[in-house]
Amino acid sequence: MEISDDILSRIKQLQKKYSAMGQDLSSYLDGLLHADFLTYWDYIHLDTLLSLQTPRTSFPDEEIFIMYHQITELYFKLSLHELKQIAAQENPDLAFTTKRIQRVNRYFMNLTHSFEVMVDGMEREQFLQFRMSLLPASGFQSAQYRMIEIFATDFINLVDKDHRANFEEGKHSIEEMFKFIYWQAGATELATGKKTLTLDQFEEKYSKQLIDLAESNVKGNLLMIFLKLEASGAELGELKAALRGLDLLVNVNWPLSHYKSAVRYLQKDPEDIKATGGTNWQKYLPPRFQKRIFYPTLWTEQEKNDWGKAWVDDVLGGK
Ligand code: HEM
Repeated sequence: MEISDDILSRIKQLQKKYSAMGQDLSSYLDGLLHADFLTYWDYIHLDTLLSLQTPRTSFPDEEIFIMYHQITELYFKLSLHELKQIAAQENPDLAFTTKRIQRVNRYFMNLTHSFEVMVDGMEREQFLQFRMSLLPASGFQSAQYRMIEIFATDFINLVDKDHRANFEEGKHSIEEMFKFIYWQAGATELATGKKTLTLDQFEEKYSKQLIDLAESNVKGNLLMIFLKLEASGAELGELKAALRGLDLLVNVNWPLSHYKSAVRYLQKDPEDIKATGGTNWQKYLPPRFQKRIFYPTLWTEQEKNDWGKAWVDDVLGGK
């Protein structure tokens, strides 16, 4: 068989590449000769992926619950993949930044719509039983969810809204603000008013990591990047729309879909509240109570007052 000029030229280029590194091309060609063809299942680690569902009970619907959480965590990972690239830019590029935010918005749109898998997809009776075997674990302990927030905005916007006014801009450390982070309010035991075990365990594992991330993101969070681009005098219409979309998707639409699940499975019977470890979720989860807003200056006072009310969703539709 003739070796074409095209192939020869590639071999020469390879020889150049390997000899520059003091390597012997023929050894690498041997490696190529013996290597197996790549398969789909090896490439995406399919066997490992499909082996990661280990229910704690024999209720069939528990597998749905596990897999949908895993799917969500993968979407969170995709979102972080984009947010990290935005934060890593030395000189923020408007088009690059806008496109990456639009990607995150697409991921959260998918998550918001697919939450029906939870809301309609499990038998309530099964859920209420298998959930008891999972205590005190809760999606509340999703660190990736908190990391997305840390990448998305300045840390002050994650301080509980009732304490935010006590922190003057630029005068307080992340560690000081972290003591008043909004999510603590969602992990209070109804019976005693004390911190839940769910929160204790989460803090033990993740507080340091989250504080470190926030400290390293003081300048690289999305709000700061937006302000930098604004200062450059660029036309920011598309970026602003993307940021408003992100704010709405992460802080209103996804939380509302999630809240729908909590209502569907946990509301009504006071006994059911036990299934959450007895937290005050009804007072905590609705976005209109939390009022988490990543980009306050991009909303009117009226829009902020009405945060989490249905019209916000209807009018803007997550765009
Ligand atoms: C039947 C389905 C679900 C129900 C009934 C439910 C219920 C709850 C409840 C009651 C809380 C408040 C904290 C607590 O009491 O533990 C919570 C928090 C949370 N859950 Fe779920 N959840 C469901 C599915 C999911 C899924 C699929 C995810 C995806 C990762 C998730 C992520 C979260 C997050 C991130 C929080 C914290 C929210 C915040 O701090 O604002 N949940 N969930």
